[in-house]
Amino acid sequence: MRLVLASRNPNKLRELRAALPEWEIDVLDAPEEPVEDGATFLENARIKARHGRAHAEPTEWVLGEDSGIEVDALGGRPGVESARWSRNWIEDLLKALAGDADRRARYRCALVALAPDGREIAVAGALEGEIALAPRGEEGFGYDPIFVPCGESRTVAELGDAWKAKHSHRARAARALADALVSERW
Ligand code: IMP
Repeated sequence: MRLVLASRNPNKLRELRAALPEWEIDVLDAPEEPVEDGATFLENARIKARHGRAHAEPTEWVLGEDSGIEVDALGGRPGVESARWSRNWIEDLLKALAGDADRRARYRCALVALAPDGREIAVAGALEGEIALAPRGEEGFGYDPIFVPCGESRTVAELGDAWKAKHSHRARAARALADALVSERW
């Protein structure tokens, strides 16, 4: 199975490839990026997938991905604004939660795959956890140094890429997509 990912984010490409080693995932060659103005991760993943559909070869499957972090004490923010929320996202998130006992948060990932004939498969994955008191670890990207998954004491950046390939929101969504493709016999 070959998919063309409508994203220029090298971290997402690396993690999707690691989560689905039996798939061939390449990056879409498109002159521009779409405007991500959806209200949900799913809507933004669909916007990216449709942008991909418009630029990919007609015979190719395309994949749109949108993800981010929801922090309960911030009413679910930054959510779909995760990439734009702040230039110093880790520092600002720690400041926003300073003194807050409720540090619950979750990562979410939505994936939308579009077949050559335009049929859509939409799936999602989540990873529950909490925001650490200070950054720790070197692997992963984004909020990983301050995100501690439920049942773990280490941050995702400490748990590392191999852990993410099995347990992350993105890996869960990727497996749901693989299952949907198999059960639909596509
Ligand atoms: P997007 O390109 O609009 O989907 O931006 C997603 C943003 O959410 C990223 O720039 C990160 O800040 C954050 N994010 C999404 N997935 C992860 C992850 O696996 N680890 C850490 N941060 C993530």
